[in-house]
Amino acid sequence: MIMKFVPFAVLAVPAFVAAHGNDHARLYARQATSSAPAATGTPPATVSFSLPTTNPTAVPLASITSGTPVLPPLSVTTTYAAGAQPTFLSNAPPLPDLSKVLPANYPALDKVPPTDSPQVQQWIQDVANSGITIPNITATVAGGCPANPQAAADTSRCWWTCGGCTRDDDITTCPDKLHWGLTHDDGPSPFTPNLLAYLQQANLHTTFFVVGSRAISYPTLLVEEYMAQHQLGVHTWSHPDLTTLTNEQIIAEFGWTKKVIKDITGVTPTHFRPPFGDVDDRVRAIAKAMNLETVIWTRISPTATFDTGDFNVAGGTTSPSQVLANWEQIMGNATTISTGFIVLEHDLFQQTVELATGYILPAALANNPALTIQPVITCLHKDFGDAYIETNNNSTNPLPVTASGSGSSGSSQSASGTNSGSGAQATGGSGKSSAARVSVDNLLSGVVTGGVAIVAGLSALL
Ligand SMILES: *[C@@H]1O[C@H](CO)[C@@H](O)[C@H](O)[C@H]1NC(C)=O
Ligand SMILES: *[C@@H]1O[C@H](CO)[C@@H](O)[C@H](O)[C@H]1NC(C)=O
Ligand SMILES: *[C@@H]1O[C@H](CO)[C@@H](O)[C@H](O)[C@H]1NC(C)=O
Ligand SMILES: *[C@@H]1O[C@H](CO)[C@@H](O)[C@H](O)[C@H]1NC(C)=O
Ligand SMILES: [Zn+2]
Repeated sequence: MIMKFVPFAVLAVPAFVAAHGNDHARLYARQATSSAPAATGTPPATVSFSLPTTNPTAVPLASITSGTPVLPPLSVTTTYAAGAQPTFLSNAPPLPDLSKVLPANYPALDKVPPTDSPQVQQWIQDVANSGITIPNITATVAGGCPANPQAAADTSRCWWTCGGCTRDDDITTCPDKLHWGLTHDDGPSPFTPNLLAYLQQANLHTTFFVVGSRAISYPTLLVEEYMAQHQLGVHTWSHPDLTTLTNEQIIAEFGWTKKVIKDITGVTPTHFRPPFGDVDDRVRAIAKAMNLETVIWTRISPTATFDTGDFNVAGGTTSPSQVLANWEQIMGNATTISTGFIVLEHDLFQQTVELATGYILPAALANNPALTIQPVITCLHKDFGDAYIETNNNSTNPLPVTASGSGSSGSSQSASGTNSGSGAQATGGSGKSSAARVSVDNLLSGVVTGGVAIVAGLSALL
């Protein structure tokens, strides 16, 4: 349970932190959270919170800010040879040879992949052959609910972003009360090893929703996540708002992420999380046609969404204390609902990992009543092998689309769906201007590019 950080003096603040100082308020628009946005240029407010315990070696909260020097990424602790056989999963393929997984064979990082490549054309054909009907729903325009009043008001498309609509097939909770389906999104990143070290010491396993662009950037980290028996899920190639894309672009985002994860680990995830939770019935159907189940996070009311807001600390719009106050409220809400829960957290930034390892996870382990903390696939009472197509138990957990290409004829947007949200919400917390979203996307890739540049000298470690 003790985190050790090795001092490393050379690392500096990523350029994006200083360069994007004026984007703070706009960065906040990235996700709905219960935190109050800071006025541009002013530090986010410190708020009070109470946790049952914290990690004795936690980085002090006062040091977890957008401006703190980057602490050292830990190195990969275990490397695995090509051809090594995972023993924890029956029917798992041997590990691929990473020397054959070359970035040049994948799309450009952090951009929606082109749809005219032979690979994407094949996946488009596979979706057409799946037997699953993709509803004819118009794409949204960038800018969320305010920019799309008609779509936001159209409950038939069940757009989660505007009102929290879910379908029966969406995974938004764990079935058992006080069971937490742990998830970390947007990695792998240079800070993921710090999280992995903590999880190993605490004997915990998580679900990593992996961005394809990060996976091809840090393939050995992805292998380490996989071999440490964490669940890998798809979080798209370039982290777009999926409802703004064409069907073909959505297929490209899913297809390349599935492929890069399989090329690196040998297995293909069966679950995905939509970036920003931006999913509607069109995205759901395409996902299903590509054997991906939708996993969002728990939302019990417009103001009680299980989002720690941790992503916004790196951008300077949320204070670490606000994240912990959000966590305290999530815990309070978790005891009031009859099911378990799923929370939004990230492993992309140093700050998010420090909050997880120093505060949130130690507090969760000391929580009274006790929590059961598991990867999503486990909290759903499924075999761990069902996390991947290659190891899925096809008799107990039939995939939506079988290898022969015939999907179950029904699709997820039947009338059996439930609109669990409060209906269309044109000015909800997820509202954002189109300018905001563009700048956030640039910021995200700026972050990552900056991080890559900074750790380039450490590539031997990664
Ligand atoms: C899809 O809907 C649009 C109008 O929203 C319509 O113009 C188009 O013909 C429809 N396509 C199909 C295949 O039904
Ligand atoms: C649930 O969360 C909401 C908003 O985050 C908060 O106002 C409320 O106090 C929480 N409920 C409990 C019982 O903690
Ligand atoms: C699938 O699960 C069933 C029931 O647990 C088991 O009997 C069977 O052997 C499993 N099949 C495979 C291929 O693992
Ligand atoms: C289940 O079916 C998929 C193809 O649809 C196949 O790749 C996989 O190997 C099968 N699982 C097992 C355990 O045979
Ligand atoms: Zn994300």
